[in-house]
Amino acid sequence: MRIVVKIGGSLMKEGVPGPLIKDVAELSPKHQLVLVHGGGDVVTDFATRLGKEQRFVVSPEGIRSRYTDRETADIYQMVMTGLLAKRLVLALGQAGLKGVSLSGADGSLLLGKRKARLVIVDERGRKVAIDGGFTGKVQKVNAQLLEVLLSQGYVPVVSPVAASEAGEPLNIDGDRAAATVAAGLHADAVIFATNVGGLQLDGSVVAHLTPAEAASKLPKIGFGMQKKVMAAVEAVEGGVREAVICSGTRESPLTRAMAHDSCTVISPA
Ligand SMILES: Nc1ncnc2c1ncn2[C@@H]1O[C@H](COP(=O)(O)OP(=O)(O)OP(=O)(O)O)[C@@H](O)[C@H]1O
Ligand SMILES: [Mg+2]
Repeated sequence: MRIVVKIGGSLMKEGVPGPLIKDVAELSPKHQLVLVHGGGDVVTDFATRLGKEQRFVVSPEGIRSRYTDRETADIYQMVMTGLLAKRLVLALGQAGLKGVSLSGADGSLLLGKRKARLVIVDERGRKVAIDGGFTGKVQKVNAQLLEVLLSQGYVPVVSPVAASEAGEPLNIDGDRAAATVAAGLHADAVIFATNVGGLQLDGSVVAHLTPAEAASKLPKIGFGMQKKVMAAVEAVEGGVREAVICSGTRESPLTRAMAHDSCTVISPA
């Protein structure tokens, strides 16, 4: 099987998730794995240490996001590709695997378009349009380089950075990046490993949802998980057989996710 694994930034704050890397090593002889990582909190920490206070903006829908000006885009790229992706590659090497890290700019893997304007709610509660900065949506995925790496037994690690038409680094959402890569690679599954055991509704983890059921639950879901469920739906609509949201901290997290053990599965049936 071909599996794309999104490693949540929530699992990368103090190094890398050991049990998950161990499981990648166990699954690699039989399966092709591609890792996509997050790490927004680590970016904020480093930006602050570099004296670049991060600004967060809130959309009229109440969604809070990093305002990525040019300096922030550079710091975002540095931390994601220079620090976090390499931490994963080094850990994969320790586990006997050949990791290779890439951003969306490498091999034109993820090409995006800058958002021209962002509508935000200002301090006085008024809606205002501001320059979109360096965030964007992926418009094209070129999976060819990943295919080459997978065919040679490498484990690709993809950072959530896209290249804009003008050659700038764009901050893209890690969950959606994983969904896009999974669809572009015609993966069998995408696994979202995070710091909770799946999508919780009314106090318990939901075992299975169709994409339509998942979309109908979105208003009841809190922010980080809402983005993940949206990305899961996008992946399945893009042809990926199933999307699984699971804990990345327990033992054998990926093997258990593939067995649908205590997690949330989003699939057509
Ligand atoms: N209904 C819900 N069920 C489960 N988790 C929820 C729900 N609503 C909100 N959440 C929150 O979503 C969080 C997971 O998303 P979050 O974006 O914080 O992590 P991540 O995606 O692993 O990290 P990153 O975004 O940095 O890659 C959980 O820790 C939880 O607090
Ligand atoms: Mg998240």
